[in-house]
Amino acid sequence: MDFLLPLFGRFHPLFVHLPIGILFFAVLLIFLSKKGKTNFSNVIPITFLTGTVFAFLSAISGFLQYQHEGYTWDSVQIHLILGWCTVAFSAWLYFSFRRNPDITKNRKIHSSGLLLILILTGHFGGNITHGDDYLFEVLPSGLQSFLGIEIEQSKPLELPTENWEEIAFFDGAIQPILNHNCTSCHNPKNLKGDMDLTSAKGLLEGGENGKIVNQGNAENSKLFSRLILPKEDEEHMPPKEKRQPRKAEIELIKAWIESGGSMDQTLGDSKVSTSLISQFFAKEEFPFYPKTTLKSISSDTLSKLREKGFFIENIALDNPLLRVSCINFPAFEDKDWELLNSVSDHIAYLDLSGSKATQAILELIGTSSNITVLKLNGLEISGENLSSLKNCTNLKLLYLNSTAISMESLSLLNGHPTLEKVYVFKTPASNQEKVRFSFELETGDYLLPKLATDTIVY
Ligand code: HEC
Repeated sequence: MDFLLPLFGRFHPLFVHLPIGILFFAVLLIFLSKKGKTNFSNVIPITFLTGTVFAFLSAISGFLQYQHEGYTWDSVQIHLILGWCTVAFSAWLYFSFRRNPDITKNRKIHSSGLLLILILTGHFGGNITHGDDYLFEVLPSGLQSFLGIEIEQSKPLELPTENWEEIAFFDGAIQPILNHNCTSCHNPKNLKGDMDLTSAKGLLEGGENGKIVNQGNAENSKLFSRLILPKEDEEHMPPKEKRQPRKAEIELIKAWIESGGSMDQTLGDSKVSTSLISQFFAKEEFPFYPKTTLKSISSDTLSKLREKGFFIENIALDNPLLRVSCINFPAFEDKDWELLNSVSDHIAYLDLSGSKATQAILELIGTSSNITVLKLNGLEISGENLSSLKNCTNLKLLYLNSTAISMESLSLLNGHPTLEKVYVFKTPASNQEKVRFSFELETGDYLLPKLATDTIVY
């Protein structure tokens, strides 16, 4: 018989409409009564009595629903208290009219008060089921801002085209997907399935049936398996009448679980494919990489370069520009640039960090006009010929960390038309006095404050 109470609770949405209608009618009768006359005096008490009974049933069923359906006290308290106030107030009016049916000014005020409480109860109840912004959501945005209403809308996941590797897989990619698709029902106030998906902690705790992530095994993780069930399946998430996540979002959740479901790895650390990532790149009006009419390089050519040791791939699915890195090719030296001749116009992202390239490479790089991000960290470069990079008319980010670069050589790049930022951590320049250039300079000259423990002698 355990099901009876929750079942009764589920009648709450049905009951609540009755006291609203009946009590509204009772108040209407009071206002329609002529002063001193008692034309509705038989009807008014019985109307209040019926209203009170249904208000009572609504309050009881509402309380049961709160107990059995995973609502938190915070989210229901105003509605619940106002509901019981409605019951008490209308009961009081019933007894008072039964004793004396006269319509007085005070009674009109009292009954208007009841109406107000009734409306507020209904409004806060509606907010619980439909969300705080249910009414305002449909207003034109101009009117919303005029009324000072800010509707919190989590945006779909967007990743930047540059530096996406450094983004935390969970915090930067998975959590935003959950915020956009799941947390309206799985949050601390609305714990559907006894599960909070608004934080890593809640996610790891899982739901009413325990853990929902089985690290390394997506098929066995409810966080993923519930999403790929057929829509008609009762267990399908999100429930079929709600907006569904994009295929790429589901794929990314899968990739995160399969790569270990760790909270601290970055997108770059994981083996998630660039073609999946690129589906989240913002469709910018001013794209980060240059627009080109170049033809795509054949996959044959790309494979050959990979065999030589380059990491090489298109910067996005439908973009002919390339990302090239020597991360697995530390023996790269200046003469190996020849290998890249056939694709040099296509290179938009070049990372030669830690290779054997020398200063002379700058002149060779200067011939590639589409290079936008250039990483030369750890090379022996002092930069007397840095002005060769003026020919790279799309260069935006330049990384020269741990090189021998100085402020004097950096000044050769001053006035570069597109260069936005140069990174010179751990270089002579980072110890020199800052100079204002046309680009931003990141010197990373932050000194750690001395701690008391630094001076302890062991
Ligand atoms: C419209 C509300 C709603 C949305 C949106 C929603 N869920 Fe649910 N979810 C529920 C309800 C209700 C339950 C409990 C009933 C059940 O288990 O089917 C539930 C249960 C679950 C469970 C089972 C928990 C357990 O311990 O068994 C998982 C996993 C889950 N949801 C994942 C998700 C994910 C992931 C998303 C977003 C992609 C999502 N849900 C979006 C309403 C929702």
